[in-house]
Order: sequence, then C-alpha cells, then structure tokens
Amino acid sequence: MSESARPQRPRRSCLAVPGSNPRFLEKAQGLPADQVFLDLEDACAPLAKPEARHTIVKFLNEGDWTGKARVVRVNDWTTEWTYRDVVTVVEGAGQNLDAIMLPKVQNAAQVQALDLLLTQIEKTMGFEVGKIGIEAQIENAAGLVNVDEIAGASPRLETIIFGPADFMASINMRSLVVGALIPGYPADPYHYILMRILMAARMHDLQAIDGPFLQIRDVDAFREVAVRSAALGFDGKWVLHPGQVDAANEIYSPSQEDYDHAELILDAYDYCTSEAGGKKGSAMLGDEMIDEASRKMALVIAGKGRAAGM
Ligand code: GLV
Ligand code: MG
Repeated sequence: MSESARPQRPRRSCLAVPGSNPRFLEKAQGLPADQVFLDLEDACAPLAKPEARHTIVKFLNEGDWTGKARVVRVNDWTTEWTYRDVVTVVEGAGQNLDAIMLPKVQNAAQVQALDLLLTQIEKTMGFEVGKIGIEAQIENAAGLVNVDEIAGASPRLETIIFGPADFMASINMRSLVVGALIPGYPADPYHYILMRILMAARMHDLQAIDGPFLQIRDVDAFREVAVRSAALGFDGKWVLHPGQVDAANEIYSPSQEDYDHAELILDAYDYCTSEAGGKKGSAMLGDEMIDEASRKMALVIAGKGRAAGM
C-alpha cells in the first residue's frame, strides 16, 4: 500500500481506554470520539497485560466501534511484551483493527520492525497486506532528534503523536503538570517539540496528534492546552475523559466563521481564475487580496470543516 493510499481518518479526539478494564471498554463505544485506542501500555499494570490482550481481542471483535478508528497501543520495543501484544491482538482481531500505536519510538528501525511483524501476521492470517496502519509516539529526546527518519520509516505510518508525560520525564523538565506552562519559564515550553513533530509529520503527509492532559476534571485547562496545538495545525489530541471529547472535537475543527470564510475564498478564487471571471491570478474578496496561496490556505480549513461535516 503506497503512502497516498492510506485512509484519511479524522482524529480530532483520540480516546485512551485501558485494555484491562471491560467497564471502560464498554462505555467508550458510546462516546463521540473520532478514534479509540485500547491500551496495553501504561494504563495497564504489568500483571494485567496478558489477560488484557485477550480482553482487547474480544472487544474489538464483538464491540460496536462504528464511526471510530480502532487502534491498540502495544508496549515499546525495550520491554519483553511487544511481540506478544502484536501477535495476539493482530492474529485475534486484525480484521477489526485500523492501526497499532507504538510508544516511545526512538528510531526508524523500531517502526520497521513493527511493519515487518505486521506483514508476516497479515500474510499468515490471509489479511490484506499493509492494511493495518502504524501510529508512532515521540516520548523522549532520541525520538525527537530522529523524528524525521521515524516519520519516513514505513508506508503504514498514519500519525506522529507527542507523548508529553514521558517526554517531560525523559528530558528532566521541572514540572509535574503535563501540558501546563511551567513556573519560571516565560514562554511555551512545548512549542519547539510540537513544531518539530509537526514538520516531520507534514513532510511525510502524516497527521500530527497532541498527547494527553491529565487534569481530567478541568476542561477549561484542557481547552487552553488544546487550543495551542490546534492553532499550530495539529489534527487532534488525546482525550482521557468524556468531558474532554466534545472539547477536542470542537477545538480541532475550524470555527464556523473560519469555515464559511474559507469556502468563500475558494468560490471567489475559482471564479476569478475562470473564463467568466477573466482568467485572473488574483482577486479582491472584500478588503482582502486572494491568490493561489490563499486558495491553498483556505483548502486546509475547508478540508477540515468538510471532514467534520460542517
Ligand atoms: C503519553 O503516552 C505520554 O507519555 O504523555
Ligand atoms: Mg507515554
């Protein structure tokens, strides 16, 4: 499957659900998140992981995940769990799974190893080869430094994700509140990291996804953090609680006003470049001059709005 052939899935809200908790797995199906990821990594205690693999298989096969991208987060390659996570989940539920999320990715080889393993399982099971996507989490300095090679490592890649909690720990950032501004530093400490991830993702035509905000009851604070990555162009954010889902769906969609304006720009540009409009390269829309570059900018906003059903 070539890079451009990958399905474009909306991922404004990516709901984390512990794979070891049937009650949460049941409830998650009713929430309006664009993506759900069933977690075998940090939300699953080590002793609970073996059983959680089978719980996940059951819920993928028997649950109703209509309208959601179905993803499983496996453990990272430095543990002893990764291969069994992948083999059990993909052999058991590969037909009902859209992507595997790989945490703490440090280099391209780790993505390629997962790609190879997926290919073997797909061949063995008679599944379409290349159908299952990969999401790569950037959670430490090595991952960020190597993010360009990681983003280009496999045609299965669909997203690059910022993992702020592990990242903050790995670089010794002096804060315990994930995603919040840090007392003592006057600027946004995440700006460089987010932009670095965004550039690598866009270079390879991938989505860029912001990670979790752990103060789950404070939806206003969630909004404050989400608005920052949405403004840069990020496609979505993790959500850990029902209260965060609607906020993410709203924040990572364009506002109605921006969407309407983008559609107006597209119409005006189409007209001015047409025979009837005089085949001009630019035109005025009110006080604003628009040209081919304005069309491209408008297309981004209009594309996100159309995908969100506006
Ligand atoms: C997510 O995995 C994070 O570490 O923030
Ligand atoms: Mg993490």
